[in-house]
Amino acid sequence: MRTILGLILGPLGLSVLMSGPAGAGPLDAPGASKALACSACHGLGGQSPSNTMPIIAGIAPWYFKKAIEDYAAGRRPSPEMEPYAKYVREAGIDDLAAYFASQSRQPTAVKVDAGAVERGRVASQQCVVCHVESGKGDPAKGIPDLRGQPPGYLANQMLLFKADQRSPGDPTLKALKELMKSVPDDQIADLAAYYSSLR
Ligand code: HEC
Ligand code: HEC
Repeated sequence: MRTILGLILGPLGLSVLMSGPAGAGPLDAPGASKALACSACHGLGGQSPSNTMPIIAGIAPWYFKKAIEDYAAGRRPSPEMEPYAKYVREAGIDDLAAYFASQSRQPTAVKVDAGAVERGRVASQQCVVCHVESGKGDPAKGIPDLRGQPPGYLANQMLLFKADQRSPGDPTLKALKELMKSVPDDQIADLAAYYSSLR
């Protein structure tokens, strides 16, 4: 239904549907119309096609909410995300968290080098204590799922941790940042390729 309508109406149709009365049409799932604002960067339904923008389709609600609160409060500095995080809080963080969690997550289509994946697999022994062997993380300890994210996004976040630019000074991330400081930049690229390749 949504696909057919989308094909017929195109982007203009989407804005018509968005401005329509609440509860009418295929975008009336809580959060769905509110999430359209995110698709310019994160892709439709949060399935980012780019190497630098994170995939947020299927994101765990606890991690979504933490990221949004951190951006909105300026704790995780991002000129791109701060205004959208504030919008999410106003539009209804629970609706948006539920919407993205309900979207099926496809791993990134960005290709990685097999040699880098293999080197990253070896280097990832430093990470399993928190991110666990599978890479899916541990909600109980606040550890996010890294599997299938675009390699460029993963590498960039590691470099931000290394330079203490993601959540600067956050005492709960001290161990992670100390570790990142000891990881050479070329190994960061290998680790990004490895976690990106996990399914
Ligand atoms: C102008 C582009 C842009 C738009 C629009 C945008 N984002 Fe983002 N988003 C980014 C960038 C860039 C990052 C990575 C920022 C960083 O370095 O932490 C990001 C990161 C995130 C993350 C963190 C993902 C993770 O794995 O830690 C979440 C969650 C998120 N965005 C949600 C949203 C939502 C929800 C919307 C719509 C209300 C939205 N974004 C709109 C650019 C955008
Ligand atoms: C001491 C526990 C710990 C260790 C060890 C650790 N991490 Fe993490 N990692 C975390 C936590 C906690 C977060 C989430 C930070 C937040 O909430 O902003 C995270 C987030 C990340 C992210 C950002 C994910 C996203 O969606 O934005 C990447 C990438 C990452 N870790 C890679 C690694 C790699 C690679 C290693 C090994 C070299 C590693 N981490 C070792 C705890 C750890």
